[in-house]
Amino acid sequence: MKKLLLLFFVSILSFPAFPADSEVLTLYTFNDFELGYEFPVVTSNGKQIYGAKAVIEAASSTSKTNKLLHVTNPTDTIGYVALELPEGRDAIYTCKKYESFSFQLRRPSSNTETETCVLEILFGSKRVYADSEPVKRQSDKLITYTCPITKVSTNNKQMRIALLATPAEFFIDNVKFYEVAYNIDIPDKTVRYWADQMGKNFGTCVNPGISTGDTFGKTVANNFNTVVLENSMKFDATEPNRNQFNWNADGVVTFAKQNNMKVRGHTLTWHGQNPDWVSNAINAKSGAERRQEAINILKNHIFKVVGHWKGQIVEWDVVNECLNDGQNPAVGGGYSTRNWSVWYTGFGGEDYIDSAFVWAHQADPDAKLYINDYNVGMWNKEGKTRAMYNLAKRLKDAGIPIDGVGFQTHTSVGYFDPSEVELSIQQFQAIGLNVIITEMDMEGGQRNGTELIRAISDSELKTQAEKYGKLAEILLKYDCPTFMVWGVADNRSWLDCSENTKPLLFYADLTPHEAYITVRKAYQNYAVKTDVPEVEYEELVIDNEVKLDVYSITGQKVGVISSMSELQDYPAGFYIVGNKKYLVK
Ligand code: G3I
Repeated sequence: MKKLLLLFFVSILSFPAFPADSEVLTLYTFNDFELGYEFPVVTSNGKQIYGAKAVIEAASSTSKTNKLLHVTNPTDTIGYVALELPEGRDAIYTCKKYESFSFQLRRPSSNTETETCVLEILFGSKRVYADSEPVKRQSDKLITYTCPITKVSTNNKQMRIALLATPAEFFIDNVKFYEVAYNIDIPDKTVRYWADQMGKNFGTCVNPGISTGDTFGKTVANNFNTVVLENSMKFDATEPNRNQFNWNADGVVTFAKQNNMKVRGHTLTWHGQNPDWVSNAINAKSGAERRQEAINILKNHIFKVVGHWKGQIVEWDVVNECLNDGQNPAVGGGYSTRNWSVWYTGFGGEDYIDSAFVWAHQADPDAKLYINDYNVGMWNKEGKTRAMYNLAKRLKDAGIPIDGVGFQTHTSVGYFDPSEVELSIQQFQAIGLNVIITEMDMEGGQRNGTELIRAISDSELKTQAEKYGKLAEILLKYDCPTFMVWGVADNRSWLDCSENTKPLLFYADLTPHEAYITVRKAYQNYAVKTDVPEVEYEELVIDNEVKLDVYSITGQKVGVISSMSELQDYPAGFYIVGNKKYLVK
């Protein structure tokens, strides 16, 4: 058999835009073309081949509206059509962004053999082949062939797609690409990309030592735009001895700056994780002196800690977990705080809460200040939510500088109900308070007390994805500024057996849960739907001799340009060039 491969290059003036809100790119539907339109036909070395044709024809004699591309090559036994991608689209980018490719094919012969079609992706002179599933050939019927895109080459910016089939005659239509759900190298496949565009904080807790020198640090920097210290900004970590401060968390603040990320502060005033000297000092005194000692300790701590990171912390959890468990008040019906907390006993009442907010505000007037707690968030299912409402309203009405309420949201798949969170958000926002999610994890499986008796099931992972995604939609709908999870990978959570209950957004191997994808889709859909304000495109004049690095919004170098017009050939999205942000539409 003569193995002469003919290349039929197809070009049109304008290609469909890459749809930002869709996971499918329809590259060609031949109904869009005029009947009889003939595509230029060339060989791989650019020479015209006599007799070979690729023409738009009616799909049947009775239909003039349904059209197909008819490819014939009477001089050869192999049909071969190549469809070019839009000019300037990066082949590597495209290959990473799309995981599979499909087309519909009709064969002229009545021969009903099973045959395999071949997707060929050309990178310059290099070819990568991917076989479709074997499909039974049927004459006069369009059959869908699907091929995975598996390999990536690095040597060319142009990508073509070819189909090999024998004999050299076929009709083709509906050429489509299907996007990968996630690829760390494709910024718009991350939640971070969309959160950045909307100015939302999407984050996780981390610990000192994090660095983009390893996969874990890269995963954090690529997928999240905000971090909070799991333990290192707490009282025992920052002031282990009286008035001797420890700034172990500085490294994480630097990590955040290097990666254009924000930092939440957790936490200033809590009954937990206080060093012994605090209670020893307070308990050594009594009466007014005791109160004064507690005031001195907390005020000094807040001014020193908040002052140290002034201007670098977007939000502080000023007071953490001050409410008693198990309360179920009505709106306006009061609340109770933990009267055994060292701060309550030291101050002789709950006014430590008010003072802590005032001092934090004085120390950094730009930081947003939150009261944070667990088992709050579900308006009807968690009575403590209404206790929090009553407390937060008291603070707000008293003119205390409080910006909102943090729902920790340590929860489980079967129990969690995002619509209950929506009800709570409505209530808090009605009294002028923001709601944020500060420490989310959502376990599956089953426990008997703390003992795990069943790991998370596949169906629970699906429900988890739906519920995380639904929550993200709600947070965006109500313009909630922050959504934090309490850890990155399942095996590094504070929860026992978390590798089996899988509460977070990434598996132990740092591949994403379906829940991460649903959250990303929620952010992406919202950004597209609400048409987030676009960054102005400014023409930057560049000397032709000078090359400028192009960075993705998440700080990865993605290329080099020598004029701004070259940037417009990049895939749609945001880029940093010369310290400025540009939008490529
Ligand atoms: O630092 C010591 C270390 O020196 C020692 O060798 C080791 C031995 O166990 O313990 C280390 O301290 C642990 C600390 O985490 C740092 O790893 C504590 O025992 C341990 O209790 C502590 O747990 C933290 C917990 O807060 C303490 O209350 C978790 O990591 C942290 O995830 C968790 O976070 C809290 C939030 O702050 C508030 N909301 C609930 C959330 C989950 O409990």
